[in-house]
Amino acid sequence: MAFPLFNKAKSPVIQRIHSDDATRLRLKYDTYYHIFDKQEGTRVWKDGKEFIMLSSNDYLGLAQHPKIKEAGSEAIKKWGSSTTGARLANGGRSFHRELEEELAAFVGKEACHVFSAGYLACASSVTGFADRKDILFADKNLHSSLWSGIKLSGARCERFSHNHPGHLKELLEYEDEKTPKIFIFEGVYSMEGHIAKLPEFIKLAEEYNAFVVLDDAHGFGVLGEQGRGTADHFNLTNEVDVICASFSKSLAGSGGFVAATQDAIDYMRSHSKQAIFSAAISPSACASAQAALRIMQDEPEHQKRLVKNLERYRKILSDLKLDIWESETPAIPIVLGEKEKVYYFWKALQEKGIYTIISIAPGVPPGKDLIRTAISASHTDEDLDRIEEAMHYACSKI
Ligand SMILES: Cc1ncc(COP(=O)(O)O)c(C=O)c1O
Repeated sequence: MAFPLFNKAKSPVIQRIHSDDATRLRLKYDTYYHIFDKQEGTRVWKDGKEFIMLSSNDYLGLAQHPKIKEAGSEAIKKWGSSTTGARLANGGRSFHRELEEELAAFVGKEACHVFSAGYLACASSVTGFADRKDILFADKNLHSSLWSGIKLSGARCERFSHNHPGHLKELLEYEDEKTPKIFIFEGVYSMEGHIAKLPEFIKLAEEYNAFVVLDDAHGFGVLGEQGRGTADHFNLTNEVDVICASFSKSLAGSGGFVAATQDAIDYMRSHSKQAIFSAAISPSACASAQAALRIMQDEPEHQKRLVKNLERYRKILSDLKLDIWESETPAIPIVLGEKEKVYYFWKALQEKGIYTIISIAPGVPPGKDLIRTAISASHTDEDLDRIEEAMHYACSKI
């Protein structure tokens, strides 16, 4: 038997892996990365126990829609599993272009580029446009994909208080008016469910000649006519330069897009590492997203049901005097403020067969430790009855 010359366990990286507190605590409390054996509608099963899923982002409840399943499997039959390469290297396919044209027309932009993940699309909405000499202005509560884009861009970034145009204005007053400026917002903030104060931010963008990037992962499908998103909701589509979003929420798929003018998309294709060096979105993911996009336009009943479910769910939470951080959308946090409370509330919901997710500081601001929930059009009246009963039980446990 050969003995290694060096003792690998002494590597500081391996020592770090073995002594990491975040991992130790995660494994101890077993709060994340659960595996379900089966899924049907809003129900998932783990070790034989059934749960109602209350933390996925399937806002329109399309994940099991027969037209989407069929489109995905037909695309695999026709095109195979993957184009196995980046589009710059071995080309896109007509299904990429078709989806891009439909998405661009839907959100009211000239052009669009689709990515294999929302994370890549949203990072690219920054890296594809920002130059090192620019200054970026970012809402403090942006999604990690945008922070990755901001870091990779190498540009200076100023953070403003969450959804606070007054603070952004203060920061702008210190800057040289000639420095190119980019504002970065979310349309609907994923954790808080807040809608961006877009009209006020756009006024500042006009005053300071800023380029505006809007991540609408959680507004797309939910706000605006037929779910066209937050910019459409405020009738400000032309004033927003770049709209990016994910397919993994209302479109119930995987992938993402960036939409803008044709010139801007052409420019992004030359400058975004995420577009240049990452493989194209797969045929089945593309076809599924296209089917979902058509369903959003042809079947308004999903949006209507979402509104109805949201009304009932908000009433359940407000009758219990739970703090939902003024969420205005189907992404609804239950703020409990202390991680111990959050943990016991979450456990109690699990006991009653309701699956949610915990988010604690530093993932959320100190004092805002919360359970993140999201209501879907596919929750049935019976699901909502069970959710109501479980919320009462969880409140009694903290
Ligand atoms: C605001 C926001 N942007 C981007 C993403 C990334 O999308 P995906 O998970 O589809 O990669 C998410 C997903 O969590 C999100 O919430």
